[in-house]
Amino acid sequence: MQVIIVKDKAEMGKTAAEIVAGGMRAKEHFVLGLATGTTPIPLYRELIRMHKEDGLDFSTTASFNLDEYVGIPGTHDQSYRFFMNRELFDHVNINKKATHVPDGMADDVEMFCAEYEAMIADCGGVDCQILGIGSNGHIGFNEPGTSLGSRTHRTALTESTIKDNSRLFEKVEDVPTEAITMGIGTILESESILLLANGANKAKAVADAIEGPITATCPASALQLHPNVTFILTEDAAADLKLEWHRG
Ligand code: GLP
Repeated sequence: MQVIIVKDKAEMGKTAAEIVAGGMRAKEHFVLGLATGTTPIPLYRELIRMHKEDGLDFSTTASFNLDEYVGIPGTHDQSYRFFMNRELFDHVNINKKATHVPDGMADDVEMFCAEYEAMIADCGGVDCQILGIGSNGHIGFNEPGTSLGSRTHRTALTESTIKDNSRLFEKVEDVPTEAITMGIGTILESESILLLANGANKAKAVADAIEGPITATCPASALQLHPNVTFILTEDAAADLKLEWHRG
């Protein structure tokens, strides 16, 4: 595992963008695994800057998002499809047809989940998976207790996630209670993984993920099994770590 501790969100975004852009430049048909939430926004801003100023090319890049709420369409301003268009896709030269976000309005969610897995496999798998982390240790919407071998599936959100995410909705009752998420097993098949975290409210989940036992109680701890995972953390998110990690 590589743990990189940086001073602030802007540096977290730049460090992550360097790694992502390096991968994109090295492989023509790069497959990005993308995450939503406020954490990856500085990364997406930096990728947009690199596209506009340094010519970073997205034209042959494909993407798969981790998750989506069930029951809201991609046109809803809190859907993860809407978020991705607004925060990244609308500002770079990616082919929108090559961007995939789970369909929260699918008639048959179980069938859709199986198809999503097949689409990832057809693209040759994810080259670099971006992750945030929930304050309860979730990755994607794999809440505590999710099987570490899980595949893309439908899941109920915990009360704490609904409460955390309600800040983005008008009222807590508006937050969907279910989602489609790549499973932990799906995530672990990515060639490389970048987990970003900032803020003191993530410190405990980060420490449990990196230095705690591997347990479904903290889904992000499953990343300890992955041979190529990098955590990029701000000082406050890294505050509960006990081992000595590189500070850059
Ligand atoms: C949501 C997403 C996760 C994300 C988490 C943290 O629950 N499903 O993928 O990591 O929020 O969000 P934030 O980055 O806003 O703290």
